[in-house]
Amino acid sequence: MKVTVVGAGAVGASCAEYVAIKNFASEVVLVDIKEGYAEGKAMDLMQTASLNGFDTKITGSTSDYSKTAESKVAVITSGIPRKPGMTREELIGINAGIVKDVTSNILKYSPNAIIIVVSNPMDTMTYLVHKVSGLPKNRIIGMGGALDSARFKYGLAEALGCPSSDVDGMVIGGHSDVGMVPLIDKAVRNSVAVSEFLSQDKMDEIVEATKVGGATLTKLLGTSAWYAPGAAVSSLVQSIICDQKKMFPCSALLAGEYGLSDISIGVPCILGKDGIEKIVSVELNEKEKAKMIESAEGVRKTNQLLDSM
Ligand code: 2OP
Repeated sequence: MKVTVVGAGAVGASCAEYVAIKNFASEVVLVDIKEGYAEGKAMDLMQTASLNGFDTKITGSTSDYSKTAESKVAVITSGIPRKPGMTREELIGINAGIVKDVTSNILKYSPNAIIIVVSNPMDTMTYLVHKVSGLPKNRIIGMGGALDSARFKYGLAEALGCPSSDVDGMVIGGHSDVGMVPLIDKAVRNSVAVSEFLSQDKMDEIVEATKVGGATLTKLLGTSAWYAPGAAVSSLVQSIICDQKKMFPCSALLAGEYGLSDISIGVPCILGKDGIEKIVSVELNEKEKAKMIESAEGVRKTNQLLDSM
């Protein structure tokens, strides 16, 4: 099955690379507006095929969406990334126009595609794709929670001094420095609550580090991160293409779930061949509920900026 990745920058290229290395898609088409850029990235990645042992064909295209025709999944990474000190919300002005155009170009050639939105501010961009496309809500997925959860698990594993495969945890809520809701009370090390191993101070520290995980990397790298974002997107794509029915926190359009409506925000979702096949309602404690409501208020504020554009 064919996967399109729009935006051949670091996140898009990293996503294409992980999709190819995992070897589950027949083709990945990279698209970028910069002349020759996607073609160059595609060729460079294809020259790793014999080294990394994958058969996925990667091609590049400069704004020619006809090459993306009949994609099963299309990933939108286009737009400007964060610079140090910037919030994701500050990118809305430029990225909203780009995401709108990209959405209509994708759907022109792949009317049945499932769209994964990565561009920031991600929850608002996902909401925008819903508004401009009118697609059924299972076909539009915002990628943030899978990445934030991976960062959360990294923080937990570091503190516990164990491999990440030993821990499990999830981050729901908005994909923003203030809006993330790492579910620390539900995080486990092989089914044992992490509070059995870590002090409250340490757990608070991990929660805070998770929330500013993207900003910390932006400061270190001078631009936003790409390896973990690319890997996170590729996992969502794989769950859809291979109909794995894995559960990831994704930005989904809610209609009453978690007491919220007309908002796209991070909640646990089962991803399979139809995209979001189920939104899982997890019982939240009072503290988690309050944080989720606060997070939704923040996302709604950013969504309102769309009206003034
Ligand atoms: C991040 O958190 C790209 O928003 C993404 O790194």
